[in-house]
Amino acid sequence: MTRRLKWIGVGVLALAVVAFLAFLYNIPPFFLIAPETFGEDMANAPPPVTGIADPAQRAIAERGRTLVMNIGCTGCHATNGPQGPDLSKYLAGGGTKITSAHGTYISRNLTPDPETGLARRTDEDVKRVLRSGTFPDGHVVPYTTMPWASFSHLTEEDRHAVVVYLRSLPAVKHRIPDPVLEPADLPSGAVEGIFGLRDYGIQ
Ligand code: HEC
Repeated sequence: MTRRLKWIGVGVLALAVVAFLAFLYNIPPFFLIAPETFGEDMANAPPPVTGIADPAQRAIAERGRTLVMNIGCTGCHATNGPQGPDLSKYLAGGGTKITSAHGTYISRNLTPDPETGLARRTDEDVKRVLRSGTFPDGHVVPYTTMPWASFSHLTEEDRHAVVVYLRSLPAVKHRIPDPVLEPADLPSGAVEGIFGLRDYGIQ
């Protein structure tokens, strides 16, 4: 009896050792990069505001830059290159296409290009989208597609700073198709109509 117990004990111990080794084998390598270094590319991605001569405007744009960087507008408004986001086309849009029961939307070009970007919009047009998702043609983008419900808590000063910064970006010509404002056929099992399906958009 005691011998059997002994062998069971040895078996359990051997199993524990194997399980521990498997655990060590499967955990990712230790994260040795400092968080600041890890986030450096993202922090440097928004073009600096050094081109603005007026110091007061520059300070406002700098605030806008910080907001845009930290809120993560690039997460959707980036432009895809062959190897992921193309940072030389910062915020030229197309990087995200969201399909839900409300329709199909592609992130827009936020650079001040006169034909395809925000130069077509007034400051108030841009602020209205950030406040309530309402576009000049009257359509309201769902807040689960363009998260304006979070941005509506910005102060008017913050919203203004974001607009001043967006207007200071290098203009990139990049035409984004208008949204298709019709319910899309979603594969069954998709999170119908709430968050929809997200893909990498267009190049
Ligand atoms: C989760 C994705 C997502 C995030 C994050 C996001 N947007 Fe958008 N945004 C979109 C989509 C999609 C559209 C296009 C909606 C449409 O066409 O109806 C859009 C449209 C806009 C427009 C309207 C452009 C025009 O042509 O009138 C502005 C302005 C805008 N976004 C600014 C921002 C800013 C500034 C941020 C960060 C503070 C931001 N967005 C973050 C998805 C996003």
